[in-house]
Amino acid sequence: MKKILIVNASKRRKGNSYTLESKLVEELQGKAEVTTFHIGEKDVRACLACDACKRQHTPNCIQKDDYTALIPAMDACDAMLILSPVHWDQFPAQLKAVLDRTYSFMDFTQPDMSMATRKDKKVGGFFFAGFGPVDVYTNLIEANLKNFATAGFTSCKTHVAGNANVPGSIMEKPEDLKAADEMVEWLLA
Ligand SMILES: Cc1cc2nc3c(=O)[nH]c(=O)nc-3n(C[C@H](O)[C@H](O)[C@H](O)COP(=O)(O)O)c2cc1C
Repeated sequence: MKKILIVNASKRRKGNSYTLESKLVEELQGKAEVTTFHIGEKDVRACLACDACKRQHTPNCIQKDDYTALIPAMDACDAMLILSPVHWDQFPAQLKAVLDRTYSFMDFTQPDMSMATRKDKKVGGFFFAGFGPVDVYTNLIEANLKNFATAGFTSCKTHVAGNANVPGSIMEKPEDLKAADEMVEWLLA
């Protein structure tokens, strides 16, 4: 069974990221081995930019916090699904902290700059925005998701669901739900 890592970057337990997570986890039962990481409840601090990780050939980070457990989970999964709100046109701060910390996977001695065990993994980013513009956000988020290539996630897909301020409203949006199912199918393929 494929190993899917779900990274949820929302703080709203009844919000749309959590609502979609519950639905997808249920749907994935028996189809994938799912691990969830709720960034909003974790302590992932900013990258120290100390370069200690550049003096070794493992993706470990000397700053010990909840990112420590995320390193092997990211390295061992087949695909990662990020569920997240848009905050001020971009990644919420805690998700950006996770992205910054994947600098620990960067290896300047490798042609592709990565020391990830596998470099053929997929990342899907399913984002929620209160307003939009959804097309602009899709491009911005995709540009950010591409940086997860350093951790071995070399293909990515993005979907932004707009008009999503009301907690749980995703359940009344058939087109966004269809996009979520298609993203999961792609991650499992
Ligand atoms: C700090 C903050 C910044 C936000 N910035 C934006 C924004 O720039 N554009 C937008 O469309 N919605 C913005 N929103 C609204 C959220 O993206 C929206 O409510 C989203 O659906 C929340 O997802 P969740 O329910 O999974 O937490 C912001 C919300 C917060 C709390």
